[in-house]
Amino acid sequence: MPVTDIHTHFVPESWPDLAARFGTPDWPGIKHTEPGKAAIMIGNRVFRQITSACWDANVRLEQMDRDGVDHQIISATPVLFAYNREPQYALDCARLFNDAALELCARGKGRLRALCQVPLQDIDASCVELTRCMRAGHLGVQIGNHVGDKNLDDPGIVTFLHHCADQGAAVLVHPWDMMAAQRMPKYMMPWTVGMPAETQLSLVALIVSGALDRLPASLRICFAHGGGSFAFLLGRLQNAWQQQKLCRGAAQFPPNHYLDRFYVDSAVFDERALQFLVEIMGADRVLLGSDYPFPLGEARVGSLIRESQCSPETKTKLLGTNAQAWLGLPQKPAAPTATEVAQTGSSFGCPARGTVEGANPASKNDEAHTGKKLTYSSYLQVPELLRLQHPESSPEHHDELLFIIVHQTYELWFKELLHDLDAVVANLRATCEDPTSRDGVYEAARLLRRCTEIMRVLVEQFTILETMLPTHFLAFREKLAPASGFQSEQFRELEFLCGLKDEKMLRYHELTPETHAILFRRLREDSLRDVFFKALEALGTLQPPPAGATEEEKFQARAKAIHALYRDERNHRDWIDVCERLTEFDELVVGWRLRHIQMVERTIGIRMGTGGSSGSSYLKNTLEKKFFPELWEARTYLEG
Ligand code: HEM
Repeated sequence: MPVTDIHTHFVPESWPDLAARFGTPDWPGIKHTEPGKAAIMIGNRVFRQITSACWDANVRLEQMDRDGVDHQIISATPVLFAYNREPQYALDCARLFNDAALELCARGKGRLRALCQVPLQDIDASCVELTRCMRAGHLGVQIGNHVGDKNLDDPGIVTFLHHCADQGAAVLVHPWDMMAAQRMPKYMMPWTVGMPAETQLSLVALIVSGALDRLPASLRICFAHGGGSFAFLLGRLQNAWQQQKLCRGAAQFPPNHYLDRFYVDSAVFDERALQFLVEIMGADRVLLGSDYPFPLGEARVGSLIRESQCSPETKTKLLGTNAQAWLGLPQKPAAPTATEVAQTGSSFGCPARGTVEGANPASKNDEAHTGKKLTYSSYLQVPELLRLQHPESSPEHHDELLFIIVHQTYELWFKELLHDLDAVVANLRATCEDPTSRDGVYEAARLLRRCTEIMRVLVEQFTILETMLPTHFLAFREKLAPASGFQSEQFRELEFLCGLKDEKMLRYHELTPETHAILFRRLREDSLRDVFFKALEALGTLQPPPAGATEEEKFQARAKAIHALYRDERNHRDWIDVCERLTEFDELVVGWRLRHIQMVERTIGIRMGTGGSSGSSYLKNTLEKKFFPELWEARTYLEG
């Protein structure tokens, strides 16, 4: 059974300035202080120091391997909830971080899955966002344990929990915004005292209000930090229920009747406490949760359970089986190692980005789990795929279907290219850490070959569209405006990822904040070109530029480093292979641009584009663009 840590946090490496975006002060921001270190800021105040484990999938995976953890469930840190803000801002904020969570998962080699966040002060918006996220690949939601004065028994929040049950979403309740702040100004007492009390309060409210009697048994809800002080004080609650009618509230049964209605994580940091928790809650109800990577989390994730006196059977449940049940995933009998999982992916296989409606992998797994046999159609989601073509022309023009399908096919291949190029970056990054190992270089070259083959297909594919007469296209063209290729998020992502970064292009994505956020992040991240040259620096072929070097000098130094590789073919065959593949990819992208222009001219002549550009004359200017200009420059110096 894979080991799963269900309580871990992430923080994106960057996000837009929320104070500027919403025009109100004191939104959380991030300030990078030195490589691998940053601070979460609230306005000008440091809220928490953090490390790159918060945003760097490779760091997380390494530490998971170190601790023997196969999977992590990541959720945002509660300081990002924004429950006290205008609902539309909180929704926008939730969407930003929810999409960022999926991006991190996409880099997690199938070992990271996410819980989303919702603007819980607005129940309708929360339901809509939860549904969107479940479709996009989240496994559930993390919520704060209260919204202002409203506890979890608030009718609106109960409605939301109903919706979670309907959607098959796992719910993690995390304490936040701790009570009696004015009496706990020091020593991090809100964390050590306030948090356990908050969670206890939530559980008591859910039970005594009768909310758990009304909520369906299918709701899978888990409380962080061992459920706070709940287990230890259950006797007190039980006694009160029996002694005082007032304490019974609307609950149909005494409190201990409800213990099989929720889960708690194992973050209690004391073996006796863990033993007690398992005794009270039952071995099926406690799950590995560490609070990784925050300082108050478990330093060696899983050690408390592994080193406890629990039976081997109980340990297996706590480390993995119970998490599968809470997440609604099929129980896995085999126990692949963390490395095996990293290489092959697993039942956690995470979509690289938002999936189509109804394509939630959890529900597909459920289908397999419930005994229905997987078919070609259900595995590939063919019915969903075939429902995604919606021509705008009326009566429908025969060729509009072709136009849509060709574009959709391009977008699918763009998705695969991003997936593979991200892996190329990860492999080259690994060589920076260990330049003597050849594995990363070989793997990068192998994946780049796939990318060039895909690009070849993409160049060819325009011919299919050219079977459409210009008059036929013009018959429905005006229906498409103002949609334009300018808005192809993945095409722009590919450019940014490879190293061609033009911030001005973000303006075409202002209407879609989540796309804007993805591109914004790509702008900030190291590109393939950056990582390639960092790897050459680690190899010793390229010297770091001297202080004060001009851009031209740096460029020439990089071109010379490539020249040096080619001159020493015997020792650098693998790197030369990478260089050749990158050059070929660059060449094919220019080929794509050229074929696109020819097709555009053949179809609309020199008309303006629907995106407002001058059309083919604008596109011709892009022909000069190169992802890896140094690779081309070096060729001028090479000799036989
Ligand atoms: C009849 C077919 C097509 C026509 C007439 C056409 C026309 C244009 C025009 C005029 C532009 C310039 C931007 C604007 O003002 O809208 C453009 C950009 C773009 N088109 Fe197409 N296009 C066609 C098919 C395609 C296809 C099949 C793809 C495949 C993904 C595609 C992807 C793009 C992209 C990514 C851009 C942005 C290029 C850049 O900024 O460098 N187009 N297209």
